[in-house]
Amino acid sequence: MALELNIRDIDAGYGAVRALHGVSLTIAQSQTVALLGTNGNGKSTLMKCVMGIVRPTRGSVVLSMDNRQYDLTRLSTEEIVNLGVAMVPEGRRLFPKLTVEENLLLGAFRPLARGEIAKNSAFCYEIFPVLAERRRQLAGSMSGGQQQMLAIARALMSAPKLLLVDEPSVGLAPILVSHTITKIKELKERYGLTVLMAEQNFHQAIRIADRGYIIVHGEIVFEGGVQALEQNELVRSYYLGTG
Ligand SMILES: Nc1ncnc2c1ncn2[C@@H]1O[C@H](COP(=O)(O)OP(=O)(O)O)[C@@H](O)[C@H]1O
Ligand SMILES: [Mg+2]
Repeated sequence: MALELNIRDIDAGYGAVRALHGVSLTIAQSQTVALLGTNGNGKSTLMKCVMGIVRPTRGSVVLSMDNRQYDLTRLSTEEIVNLGVAMVPEGRRLFPKLTVEENLLLGAFRPLARGEIAKNSAFCYEIFPVLAERRRQLAGSMSGGQQQMLAIARALMSAPKLLLVDEPSVGLAPILVSHTITKIKELKERYGLTVLMAEQNFHQAIRIADRGYIIVHGEIVFEGGVQALEQNELVRSYYLGTG
């Protein structure tokens, strides 16, 4: 059976702070799904629920794969990574004093990935040639765009089937935003990777997405294909200033 992620009706939060209310979202194999919303609306919280970092208080997160269903709300983050789910966290979270190569190695802790380090790093260097050129450079000494590439590459070192990318464009100059988003598109087109991408940059996100969801104050207020998103009133007023 093909891979599919089904998030059904989840509530989640931090103590008294309720961050998600009845959120449902589906990603089918080889799709790129955009989770769109401005700051503080719950995008990162939703991704953390998929990774087992935040536990929903209600609802389910089910990964279907290889004719089996896994309830991710009952698994540890390590078990979720072992199933083939990886996240590029918001703000990249690299180890600035370690080299590019060392940062990549830290992405390969998944048992299955440990035996495939050579293959997976060759793959990363093929997608991101700039990292190959700079493999002995300290991560913290690279540009923001290069650091984002490294953060994505590090996640790819676990050979994921489902990749979550939390705000890849944040803090990057416009030309690098476009370059980064194009790389994510390439991962889908060339390698069939399934991607959930949180973004505030609407135009860039829908350039590569198959479908999108808009999250406002922890609730999904709109879901649809790219054309429907572009024509949506809410999108027009929030993002395009034409509402
Ligand atoms: N660790 C935390 N402790 C308490 N509240 C948090 C924490 N992380 C996020 N929040 C709150 O949860 C809500 C959603 O945040 P978040 O998921 O980070 O949104 P986004 O990623 O869309 O910016 C916000 O109101 C935010 O202040
Ligand atoms: Mg966030």
